[in-house]
Amino acid sequence: MQETLKKINVLFVEDNPDDVELELYELRKGSFDVSQQVARNRDEFLAALENLDVDIVIADYSLPDLTGIEAIHILRERNIAVPVILITGMGNEQVAVDSLREGAIDYILKKNIAGFAARVDRALDIWADRQTIVTMEAEKEKLQQQLFQSQKMESVGRLAGGIAHDFNNLLTGIMGYASLSLKAIPEGTQVSKNIHTIIEVSKRASHLVKQLLLFSRKIPLEFKIVDVNNLIRENVGFISRMVEETVEIKLDLQDDLPMVKSDVGQFTQVLMNFAVNARDAMEGSGTLEFKTEAVPVSDEMISKNPSPDVKEYVVITVTDTGCGIDEENLPKIFDPFYSTKEVGKGTGLGLSIVYSIVTGHGGWIDVESTKGKGTSFKVYIPVISEEALAGTSPESVVSGEGLRRLVSGKETILIVEDEEVLRSFSSQMLTDLGYNVLLASDGEEALVIFQENLEMIDLVVSDMIMPKKSGIELFNDLKKIKPAVKFILVTGYCLEEAEGHILRNMEAILMKPYTTEKIAALIRRTLDT
Ligand SMILES: Nc1ncnc2c1ncn2[C@@H]1O[C@H](COP(=O)(O)OP(=O)(O)OP(=O)(O)O)[C@@H](O)[C@H]1O
Ligand SMILES: [Mg+2]
Repeated sequence: MQETLKKINVLFVEDNPDDVELELYELRKGSFDVSQQVARNRDEFLAALENLDVDIVIADYSLPDLTGIEAIHILRERNIAVPVILITGMGNEQVAVDSLREGAIDYILKKNIAGFAARVDRALDIWADRQTIVTMEAEKEKLQQQLFQSQKMESVGRLAGGIAHDFNNLLTGIMGYASLSLKAIPEGTQVSKNIHTIIEVSKRASHLVKQLLLFSRKIPLEFKIVDVNNLIRENVGFISRMVEETVEIKLDLQDDLPMVKSDVGQFTQVLMNFAVNARDAMEGSGTLEFKTEAVPVSDEMISKNPSPDVKEYVVITVTDTGCGIDEENLPKIFDPFYSTKEVGKGTGLGLSIVYSIVTGHGGWIDVESTKGKGTSFKVYIPVISEEALAGTSPESVVSGEGLRRLVSGKETILIVEDEEVLRSFSSQMLTDLGYNVLLASDGEEALVIFQENLEMIDLVVSDMIMPKKSGIELFNDLKKIKPAVKFILVTGYCLEEAEGHILRNMEAILMKPYTTEKIAALIRRTLDT
């Protein structure tokens, strides 16, 4: 049976073409399918390194202007990981030992060329094993770093949280007594001004305490289902007021972004902290971009992925064109109280808070920065699975596309409302969500429309207090015509006990004032039950 040929890409560093021929011959005989490059001197060797893509380097022990050992050193200096076999005409054990010590993977005498292919094969195997160990070591190192970082954050967080809590009580005392003292003193006096200052400074301290509590996760996260695109769009106005006018804000938001579970307030804080840092880094002008995309979990994310059952992440990339961060400072930026800003300008808590909030969301952060060019933070937040999404109530969804998807519908709804403004508002909103809407301005008109469209109407949403016929009377009439009628009563009043029995027969009651989200969610739920 014909043996399959092993493909191999070789760089020969050799000035004698006959030697190259001989080695090629041996390799091919040993069932290698060889593609080769030849460097005959130092210059050609250096040129070949420009974009070196070979499996192995086979180098003569000494060329007129380059030795094999020098070649190994040059490869190491340039961080090029490739196995090197040294070949020599004459040699002794000492030369062999020195070569291996310097990093050659094997050392072969020309007179032993007969077993050359087998030696190359073995060298490639040894190299592959070494590479696996190197990758595993690097991976281990990375995991240790991650563990160390999270333990550090955890312990500093606990400490800060403890202090912040006690400090908060002290501040409450200081501010309370200061306010009391103020009452006992005429306004405008020096003492009253001093007390005002005490209160002002205490307020600043209490802001700091709030930051500490945020960082130490003493403020619990309240998760809702969120469309991140929407969250960014809603905050962009505020962010642009916060940064200089000369900073251009760009959005690059992926359509149909999947939903995530997030604490809106705290996540807004994440965006703000990035924006403030970017503003400080850009000193007045530049570009700040927010980008969103959904990415499936890839192999390289596995070690960072805190929840193995999450298969997809929403990635929010915040990029600025600011001063960038030094390579040596990069590992420190998430440390609490690490700041390069002037005293009084930065507490060094911004990114620690970001870290704490993002890890609290089951995600992580990557950062890339080039000194003088800018910085890019990537925040990974787990995508909520379809099953989990199906099990959530629309009330737990924060506006935007995601809510739309959950509360839209094609059914026909009769709106009964005497107030013109409310009638057209509801009509507009429900039409936007895809519903077919019929309108009546009082109970009598509603009754007529209902009878005319008996089969078509899936739900009636009626105000309670209306001229001619009240919502409750209307409900009783409709019940007689169609016992299975679905009915939502809208009211601004507390309902009498006596009316309880009627109300129990209705699908739902909606108290005024209501939000768009609330009425849309209630309508969808009523239609679905
Ligand atoms: N976008 C950025 N560009 C350049 N450097 C940054 C950027 N973001 C953070 N840094 C560096 O990281 C440090 C820590 O940031 P962090 O937000 O934690 O604290 P701060 O901004 O100094 O203070 P605080 O946010 O508490 O007011 C900053 O002082 C700055 O040196
Ligand atoms: Mg900051």
